[in-house]
Order: sequence, then C-alpha cells, then structure tokens
Amino acid sequence: MTNRTFAIIKPDATRNANTGLIYDRILKANFKILAAKLVKMSKKQAEGFYDIHRGKPFFKELTDFMSSDICMVLALEKDNAVSEWRKTIGATNPADAEAGTIRKDFATSLGENAVHGSDSDENAQKEIAFFFTESELIANL
Ligand code: CMP
Repeated sequence: MTNRTFAIIKPDATRNANTGLIYDRILKANFKILAAKLVKMSKKQAEGFYDIHRGKPFFKELTDFMSSDICMVLALEKDNAVSEWRKTIGATNPADAEAGTIRKDFATSLGENAVHGSDSDENAQKEIAFFFTESELIANL
C-alpha cells in the first residue's frame, strides 16, 4: 500500500466549469496535492495513457473524449490514497455512484464521468510518472 494516487478532472467537468468545485472536494477530503496542471492531451497521448484499455469496444470513444478538451491532472497523497480516492469519486458509472461522491454529483454518463482515479498502487505510480517528473511533486521540494 502506498500513499499516492493519480487523478484527472476530465473534459466534461472542465467544460462545465466544475474544475474548482472538484478541486475543493479533493482538499476537503484531506488529500494533499503533490502536483496539478492543466493539459490538453493529443489523441496519441490519450491512447498511451489508456493503453490498458486498447482493443476494448469503448477505446476510441474514451480516447476521443479525453483528447477533446482541457483536463486537470493531479498527483495526490493520503494514507491508502488509491482506495480513499476511489471512495471519494464513486462508481465508474455515475448511475451506480453513491450519494455525495464526485461522480454522483458531477458525472453525466459512463463515458463522461467527470474524474479518473488509479485502480492500483502500481498503476498510480505509472500514471503519475506519465504526466509528472519526480522533481515536480512538492513532496520532493
Ligand atoms: P476511468 O476511471 O477514466 O477509466 C477508464 C474509463 O473508460 C472509465 O473511467 C470510463 O469513463 C470509460 N469506460 C469504461 N467502460 C466504458 C464503456 N463500457 N463505455 C464507455 N466508456 C467506458
């Protein structure tokens, strides 16, 4: 178990001006933000990030969407960060998300579900490294 996870505030959320509200939820849930930046992914970058889903029926829709507009990417720190962040965001499909979770409150569909969260410590490490160098994380200042 490590204490880091990786999050994305997705294009649907940034388009709907929910970036600040979701950032606030992150802070109120007591995550320390180690790094955050705005990115506009290229289609190739989105395909690289979601390589684990390559070949799945929703891969094109997912990578078209993730490269369609601005995202905020974040490296987060908390005890049991991966599971704590997944609890905070709720189920992948907002229809199944519990009340009070970010996806319940801000997501509109399975494809456009407002936020991403790593599903394991191993993927969290890889996903943080996809967007940030170690020296960009404030833990290293
Ligand atoms: P995320 O947590 O970013 O991880 C992969 C994403 O793929 C997931 O959120 C969903 O937005 C998306 N996804 C998963 N299953 C489907 C599906 N059946 N159809 C469309 N998108 C999906």
